[in-house]
Amino acid sequence: SLPSHVRLIDVGPRDGLQNEKQPVPAAVKIELVHRLQAAGLKEIEVTSYVSPKWVPQMADNHEVMQGLRRAPGVRYSVLTPNLKGFEAALRDRPDEIVVFGAASEAFSQKNINCSIAESIERFASVVAAAKAAGIAVRGAMSCTVGCPYEGAIAPERVAYLAGLMKGIGVERVDVADTIGVGTPRQVQAAIEATLAHYDIDHISGHFHDTYGQALANTLAALQMGVWNFQASVAGLGGCPYAKGATGNVATEDVVYMLHGMGIETGIDLDALVDAGAYISEQLGRPSGSRVARALLAK
Ligand code: HMG
Ligand code: MG
Repeated sequence: SLPSHVRLIDVGPRDGLQNEKQPVPAAVKIELVHRLQAAGLKEIEVTSYVSPKWVPQMADNHEVMQGLRRAPGVRYSVLTPNLKGFEAALRDRPDEIVVFGAASEAFSQKNINCSIAESIERFASVVAAAKAAGIAVRGAMSCTVGCPYEGAIAPERVAYLAGLMKGIGVERVDVADTIGVGTPRQVQAAIEATLAHYDIDHISGHFHDTYGQALANTLAALQMGVWNFQASVAGLGGCPYAKGATGNVATEDVVYMLHGMGIETGIDLDALVDAGAYISEQLGRPSGSRVARALLAK
């Protein structure tokens, strides 16, 4: 049966903006986070502590985190690929850090410049340090259905990565379709594979919408009992190491679908649409959310 409540993690400030070519001032990112929390988001992925040479747009991580007016009950998460990133993040006290690995060897190399095995070694020390500091740990698993370099990815490889994540103490994992190629049965197979190591409450869906499948994939995951999802306001984004991949499913579209199905999110859709309109206007382009465009055209 379907969950009665869904928890959405808005990754717009991080996944959404990381690949943006034009400079986006820290003040705009901060305002976006404030609008998301005002709309009722309880989890927001704010930024990354990665190399500014690799991802220049996230170089203002410290300024953004320090500029936040934190709301009670909101979990602010950040990406940390290694101890250097974790140590930088620690000064800004995120509630949760995210280590990010891939089910595909080639993607691991392109994205974080190391093999899957090496990434797990690095993450192990990050996870241990986070736990010692009382910070929660999530693991993103990229390319769980398809890879821009290797093509289709078998569920066994997802199970393998999930087992490695579990082995180093990662508390919950995101099953990511990085390039948005997956269709519902494939996404279900990736989640099924993850269930070998994590229970359903500790699995979230992270679906990019490149091929327009993300909402269908969200529904397929919901039908398995998944109730945690990442989404990006206004459908912002794409990964710099996944050429041609578009943003995550738009948060507005997921909220509209869930509310229409009688599933609670705690999110005010109108306020969320306003947040999406704000960032779209700042970036000078139309929102990627179909729901936002429809509501704003009324
Ligand atoms: P590397 O070059 O192998 O690292 O990069 P290194 O340890 O050899 O260090 C090289 C230089 O980077 C040194 O500086 C380090 O200090 C610096 P230099 O001496 O040359 O001046 N450095 C750092 N600087 C800041 N923060 C750090 C850091 N670490 C090293 N943490 C590294 C390895 C992982 C850093 C690099 O490959 C990197 O930054 N990659 C970016 C990955 C990224 O952000 N990708 C996008 C996010 S993942 C994603 O979008 C997918 C997801 O949404 C799920 C999905 O959809 O699939 C999560
Ligand atoms: Mg992503």
